[in-house]
Amino acid sequence: MSGFDMRVCALREEARDVLGVELAPADGVPLPFDWAPGAHVDLRLPNGLVRQYSLVSRPADGHLYFAVKREPGSCGGSRWLHEDLRLGQILGVGEPRNLFELHEGSGEVLLIAGGIGITPLLAMYRACRANARPVGLHYFARERAGLAFRRELEEQADVHLHVGLERAALHDRLGELLSMRGERASLYCCGPAGFMQRVREVALAAGWPEKALHQEHFQAQAEPVTTTGFELVLAASGRQVRVIAGESVAAAAARAGVEIPLSCGMGMCGCCLTRVIEGQPVHRDAYLGAAEQASGEWMLPCVSGCAGARLVLDC
Ligand code: FES
Repeated sequence: MSGFDMRVCALREEARDVLGVELAPADGVPLPFDWAPGAHVDLRLPNGLVRQYSLVSRPADGHLYFAVKREPGSCGGSRWLHEDLRLGQILGVGEPRNLFELHEGSGEVLLIAGGIGITPLLAMYRACRANARPVGLHYFARERAGLAFRRELEEQADVHLHVGLERAALHDRLGELLSMRGERASLYCCGPAGFMQRVREVALAAGWPEKALHQEHFQAQAEPVTTTGFELVLAASGRQVRVIAGESVAAAAARAGVEIPLSCGMGMCGCCLTRVIEGQPVHRDAYLGAAEQASGEWMLPCVSGCAGARLVLDC
């Protein structure tokens, strides 16, 4: 990950178990990049992990601001930030990337956030308000204490907070929200995978067209690439190994004694980017753009697989 050194300038408790982090260039110069609502940055932690966080701040703020939920099952990212991050510390930050763009236009925007999924949607909400674009934000959380940015959101008439809904009640509430759609309305959703799936199902059942639905995925794919297995040739190392069903290419390479560098393990950070010499990759990452995926020249072997019987990689 190429990147910039950024200093931690402020830490705020945005909600229970939600830490707000403000970063500015370590050398005091203006931010060297721009971004739009929905963008995220890769953050390199001193323990070597790379994690992705959606930006809440705007370029005009002169700093990066994002919020991190403490995840009970954290394998080192959110736990490190909550327990070890200190003011003044320097972190490596990649240039912002946007896989969840707010499309331009004047049509109504419906934003549905679950938990920490509020972060990209808050940036979108603010942008819509600033541009006088019709917008509604619905923010679901298990408990009131877990609502991040609550003070700001509570003051807005077009923000609706939904707290503590059980499964059936959540389904009904989504059904009500999504039962009517303006002609040019679009829906943006971010939150836990199960929550987003539910929103998507309810929206489709209510007649929302696929093209009006936009979701942010910041989690590992639920299933490994389904495959009947294939031959993996590691050309630069002169090794060969059979990838077994459900195994990642990176794991098979490791069995063959070739360690492909990994960080997120989720197809998000690009750390394991590898050139494809032969074979047809099946992409499951959120890092490569559509054109890069279609070219078949590169793949992320932590999550992506192969459509054929043989894959040759340059590693
Ligand atoms: S390790 Fe991050 S994309 Fe593969």
